[in-house]
Amino acid sequence: MRQMSRRGKFITLEGLDGTGKSTQMRMLAAALSAAGHKVVETREPGGTPTGEKIRKVLLDSGTAGLSPLAEMALMFASRAQHIAEVLEPALAAGNIVLCDRFTDSTEAYQGSGRRLGSEPVRELHRVLCGNLQPDLTLLLDSNPAASLGRARRRNQRVSRSANRSHDENRFEQETRAFFVRVREGYLAIARREPGRVVTVDAQGTPRQTHQRILEAVQKKLRL
Ligand code: TYD
Repeated sequence: MRQMSRRGKFITLEGLDGTGKSTQMRMLAAALSAAGHKVVETREPGGTPTGEKIRKVLLDSGTAGLSPLAEMALMFASRAQHIAEVLEPALAAGNIVLCDRFTDSTEAYQGSGRRLGSEPVRELHRVLCGNLQPDLTLLLDSNPAASLGRARRRNQRVSRSANRSHDENRFEQETRAFFVRVREGYLAIARREPGRVVTVDAQGTPRQTHQRILEAVQKKLRL
């Protein structure tokens, strides 16, 4: 008889814009695949056809005057669809799911950055996301000024080279103080949930950060 496959593992990557999350996610996915694991890579906002439409609305700097509550609601709309269409099926099939941002981003950016508070975010997560919790969250931590400078330069390059009708710059236009609050929000989550969240120093070379991430994954998940 075929054995029922065991539930997979859910790993999220978090951090300020420009901390190198996408690079680290690619490196971790490659390392896990090479070790024989089935890996699914995905991201938020987005990750599904509907979610990618919502992402355009959220990140396009042409989206003017979006209220903080509407912004939070759209983040959760994308997430609820992502859970139903991608995350739950992939976990049920036994995959390791690597997700670039999840509800901690909403708590840090909307809860702390936009000052909506943590409680509404955690309540919506219970109602709309069945309180799905990552098995491990890697928080890439670095200096807000340096990360933001990187994110802005990258997005300017992408906007120019692709000559696109939309861009992904809306959040990068926020003030330094906003990103300082976002970072504080993240660090507060890490203090509250030390069993789930590992803070990784992301200020070294990509190789060094990758090494720290591999250690955390081995230690926490024994993969
Ligand atoms: P992302 O594409 O990961 O940006 P980057 O590669 O620059 O880190 O995420 C897009 C933006 O959306 C990012 O500025 C953070 C923001 N965001 C929120 O404000 N709340 C959320 O819940 C999520 C998932 C993202």
